[in-house]
Amino acid sequence: MSTTPHDGPTGTSPESSRENDLPAAMERPRADAPAVHPGDTMADPLADPGLPAHQPRPTDVDPRLERRAERQVATLFGLSSVFAVLFVISYFVFNIGPKPTIIAGYGAANIALGVCLGMAFLLIGVGAIQWARKLMSDVEMVEMRHPAASSDEDREAAISSVMAGIDDSGIARRPLIRNSLLGALGTAALAPLIVLRDLGPVPGDKLAHTVWKKGMRLTNDVAGTPIKPEDMEIGQLVNGEPAIFYAKKADGEPVIEGTELNQAKAKAAIIIVRMRPEDITPAKDREDWGVAGILCFSKICTHVGCPISLWEQQTHHLLCPCHQSTFDLGDNGKVIFGPAGRSLPQLPITVDSEGYLVAQSDFTEPVGPSYWERG
Ligand code: FES
Repeated sequence: MSTTPHDGPTGTSPESSRENDLPAAMERPRADAPAVHPGDTMADPLADPGLPAHQPRPTDVDPRLERRAERQVATLFGLSSVFAVLFVISYFVFNIGPKPTIIAGYGAANIALGVCLGMAFLLIGVGAIQWARKLMSDVEMVEMRHPAASSDEDREAAISSVMAGIDDSGIARRPLIRNSLLGALGTAALAPLIVLRDLGPVPGDKLAHTVWKKGMRLTNDVAGTPIKPEDMEIGQLVNGEPAIFYAKKADGEPVIEGTELNQAKAKAAIIIVRMRPEDITPAKDREDWGVAGILCFSKICTHVGCPISLWEQQTHHLLCPCHQSTFDLGDNGKVIFGPAGRSLPQLPITVDSEGYLVAQSDFTEPVGPSYWERG
């Protein structure tokens, strides 16, 4: 692309623009320009160098080189397909999660997925550049300045040059390139589709349940020690967890660990509070959900899921620090202030044969924020 030698500087006034539009022979001298006298000869400092003579490329004149370039481009697109397929294979072959496949100290999945996808797109780009440089039309074009809004004729001309460009690319004449490019784009599009699998599977009824079940002991969430009613004073709040988080299998390995443990913790965290029994007004079906003034609630706020344990002993209110939802634990965890949409779920508890606090069942409703499937 080239510009005309008389383009005005940016920011010139309309008047000076008009002056720039004058033919060179009619231009007025600037006030500070040196005086020109008849007979002076001045070389034009901005002489238009013009365009150099057109040099055809080797592929324009040698059909053998042209075919070779065509094969090179197709090879690049073909290699792109290979890397896209390797991406998909790596996705299934290399483990991630708690026991990832490690090669040379690095996570194999990350490296293989990144390299393969990067190469797949890079090779498409390099192939397209080679195609344009070696095989598409090689003509110099001059774009003259014109008003910002194009005229209808110009738009039509633009559309026809796009169509001519498509013609020039030879996509119809070169089925090898066209098909290999389509193959490369198709297989590269597969890669992001495959990783969508990580969003699933759909949760099913997982959101409605926690690991709590009948007879599971309530434990202190710091040491995992089980709790007896006599361990708690009136007004006290204990952050708790289910005993299964501390349980071991016969071989000494934890029963739940890794991601599964973290997911279970996020749902099963509880607070245990002790009040005077006369300060509690249990709902009709909850008369036997506590033990001697000890009640157990989910620790997860029903607004957007912050963990809560700001406890006001005198009022029996539990305050969420995130958006100040306030729940009355003496009144079945009812919301008395703030944006939470429903009561704090309560875990029915009792004591086992050894006198430790245990759950009577899982929570009877989903814990945490509301979600769309919640009936
Ligand atoms: Fe508790 Fe918003 S998360 S009030």
